[in-house]
Amino acid sequence: MIILGLNAFHGDSAAALLRDGVLVAAAEEERFRRLKHWAGFPTQSIAYCLREAGLTLADIDHIAVNQNNYANWLRKIRYLVTKPPSIGLLRDRLANRRRRMRLPELLEKEFPSQRFAGKFHHIEHHLAHLSSAFHVSPFEQAVIVSVDGFGDFASAAWGVGHDTDIKIEGRVHFPHSLGIFYQALTQYLGFPHYGDEYKVMGLAPYGMPSLMHPMRQIVRLQKGSFELNLEYFRHHREPIAHQWMSGSPEFADLFSPALEHLLGARRRPEEPLTDRHRDIARSVQAMYEEAFFHLIEPLQRRSGLTDVALAGGCAMNSVANGKIRRATPFRRVYVQSAAGDAGGGIGAAFAVWHALGGARSFVMDHAYWGPEFPRDKVATLLAAQRSRISAAACAVEEILDEAELCRRTAAAIADGKVVGWFQGRMEWGPRALGNRSIVCDPRRADMKAILNAKIKRRESFRPFAPSVLEETVRDWFEEDDAVPFMMQVFQIREEKRSAIPAVTHVDGSGRLQMVSRTTNPRYYRLIEAFRELTGIPMVLNTSFNENEPVVCAPDEALDCFLRTKMDILVLGDIVISRKEGR
Ligand SMILES: [Fe+2]
Repeated sequence: MIILGLNAFHGDSAAALLRDGVLVAAAEEERFRRLKHWAGFPTQSIAYCLREAGLTLADIDHIAVNQNNYANWLRKIRYLVTKPPSIGLLRDRLANRRRRMRLPELLEKEFPSQRFAGKFHHIEHHLAHLSSAFHVSPFEQAVIVSVDGFGDFASAAWGVGHDTDIKIEGRVHFPHSLGIFYQALTQYLGFPHYGDEYKVMGLAPYGMPSLMHPMRQIVRLQKGSFELNLEYFRHHREPIAHQWMSGSPEFADLFSPALEHLLGARRRPEEPLTDRHRDIARSVQAMYEEAFFHLIEPLQRRSGLTDVALAGGCAMNSVANGKIRRATPFRRVYVQSAAGDAGGGIGAAFAVWHALGGARSFVMDHAYWGPEFPRDKVATLLAAQRSRISAAACAVEEILDEAELCRRTAAAIADGKVVGWFQGRMEWGPRALGNRSIVCDPRRADMKAILNAKIKRRESFRPFAPSVLEETVRDWFEEDDAVPFMMQVFQIREEKRSAIPAVTHVDGSGRLQMVSRTTNPRYYRLIEAFRELTGIPMVLNTSFNENEPVVCAPDEALDCFLRTKMDILVLGDIVISRKEGR
């Protein structure tokens, strides 16, 4: 049975394809369209999934979408009756609903020569999130939690997963949302773009949690749940200008003027960051953690289970996730690599697979579900680009012996070079995990500044992350839960921090990726070669891009290499090196 899962008309539009309950391909539309968080109909991701599986739409039995207009219907009616929204807000909602009902029509328009004759399924947004976490996790039974902005009139859902079954025990409904809280305060702090919340998370350790009193006025904890003080928000009473139709998502301010009365004037993006902003960032993160643990602790107590699977945009809060084992009796945490809305595509597909009686036979233990490019495609590209490459004074060499390729690349990293590492299938989800990565030496205190000067030009407060050989994690970190997707931040052992300053955040933490010999042997070998040279079993890993979506195809990697000051590009077996001083 073939199932195509979609996340459409949300941020991070995406498609995923399952064959008999096993994931075959998954990718986010932003990688093909080259616009971050692209929202709209994922035509190119669908085309990729079909190509990868060698199928056409005519071969697909089911299409599952992570959205269902009829979900939480009674709640919507009750809300409309008791708190009538403005005509503008209502019109906005109905227009969104109409767009999403047009999926069959869109499919026909975008794929005119292929006829889909299967069945459409609309899966409630949070059920799709929960399925995307639990049904691909290694757990037979677990507490399951989804926390995000909004989807199908809810912002959070939780319950218990057992084998193929998902039992939802509670939800938080519109207009209350931890995702909206974090997004609104991110806007307030002068980071206006969709997905900028991670900047606040990175800024937080520089401040003190000195504003918990006002934070607790904004978010109020209730028995095992939370609500927003709506005085500080706008989303419930007026349409928030936004775009979900095509291109990068954009949102107007979600917070009301009352928030500025409470916390002082907002920071404009061009204004410098002050200690007050740092303290607010820390307090926002602390408030999120307080509410998150308030939500998940009772679930552990009630169920007695020690495994938890998380999804939803807030499940990308790797700092909070990394504290779960310390703050609760949960012992294992699973967050798949596309925990946000993109992941809803695989969740919708798995929900349908299991609803139709399919058994569990798949665990997502790696993120390499995107396109791969054969060696001849790379060779053709290099031939076509020969003059640009030589104009940039680069040498090109093929190294077919993998051990030699890894040894020489590791030596370059140890020598302070910045290396673009492009291998195999592209990662599913926002993190580069060793196939579309820029790698360099974690030992050098100046590496962050070098990377920012040469390529990234990002805010200096943001940390870089390490990729670590999995067997060595316990020697370097205070925790050792499985973290294949950089979804938990752990404290680095105090005595080790000075050895790896480039990947140690200001609070001594690191957002690690554990690298496994079985799921990415070539990347493992590269880090192993680096350890043989330096004694350090990790490299600094950042995404292969420059203020754009992570590169997908080799030509994008080569363009990024040539327009930045990266020293070396490894494209499969081909090594392109910039000559010294250029
Ligand atoms: Fe969501």
